[in-house]
Amino acid sequence: MVDLSEKLREYCEKVNNALDIAIEDKDEPAVKSMRYSIFAGGKRIRAAIVLAFCELFGGDINKAIPFACAIEMIHTYSLIYDDLPCMDDDTLRRGKPTNHVVFGEATALMAGAGLYARAFETVLGCSGLSSEQKIEGMNILLSASGLNGIISGQMLDMENKPGLTEDEVMRIHKLKTSAMLEASAVLGCVAAECSDKEKNIALEYAKNVGLAFQIKDDILDVCGTVEDMGKTLGKDKASMKTTFVDILGVENAQKEVDRLSSKAKEIVCDINGCEFLMSLAEYLANRKT
Ligand code: IPE
Ligand code: IPE
Ligand code: MG
Ligand code: MG
Ligand code: MG
Repeated sequence: MVDLSEKLREYCEKVNNALDIAIEDKDEPAVKSMRYSIFAGGKRIRAAIVLAFCELFGGDINKAIPFACAIEMIHTYSLIYDDLPCMDDDTLRRGKPTNHVVFGEATALMAGAGLYARAFETVLGCSGLSSEQKIEGMNILLSASGLNGIISGQMLDMENKPGLTEDEVMRIHKLKTSAMLEASAVLGCVAAECSDKEKNIALEYAKNVGLAFQIKDDILDVCGTVEDMGKTLGKDKASMKTTFVDILGVENAQKEVDRLSSKAKEIVCDINGCEFLMSLAEYLANRKT
């Protein structure tokens, strides 16, 4: 059995080292603000999924590092924006004051856009991937961060109101959150030059983990602690959003998370070297952070 936390730490260290180079420290407000949020202590789950699928299918994880950095930069940008006063209006993220609280709204906007741009520069400028891999990877990143993902999901979530159906909530979850986890899995496959069949396995795993991830986030918004989560909780209720917790109740929402997590595990369980991804699915279903 793999030691999940040891492996996560190993992936995290590789990605953090690469991010430190990709967003080189400079005495410039935008750089300070970008580095503040990217190094504030995220779990790096998306990066881990990139690297794990690359490894699972026999790729060189060094080639996947630029994709792992890019996905974490885009994810961090989405959190900076998500926390802005015009969106969720949050003051705590990753256990620290949110970016706009520290740097002001204008700099937070630039830092988010800066991270988004640097994500693509990092992929384009790397030496380990072919032009075809870069284009394929950037297409995946653009899609998941754009109208097939974050943008549409966040727009729908801003209109979230009491009384949405399960299908409507699921659609928001898929777009705002799962799309990026799905992109992570497939990016690992692109770095490993996988077949379409392997990419589909990765995609199916991530669809289940991705939906479970946001349902769990909504459960933790009700049942978690601020110390563990590093962010303000009770936000969904305060903003009158319909979540799976409203539709199913906490207990059944957790059952749904467990069901999706088991499905994800089933998808990879016969593949040699699947242990990390199996443990990851389980850990995410039971996480407290
Ligand atoms: C938070 O994502 C936003 C959601 C999509 C629920 P994470 O829980 O992965 O946040 P970090 O990166 O660990 O801070
Ligand atoms: C955010 O969802 C998803 C993003 C695309 C950023 P939430 O608004 O529920 O995330 P948290 O709870 O603030 O991390
Ligand atoms: Mg939000
Ligand atoms: Mg939020
Ligand atoms: Mg939330």
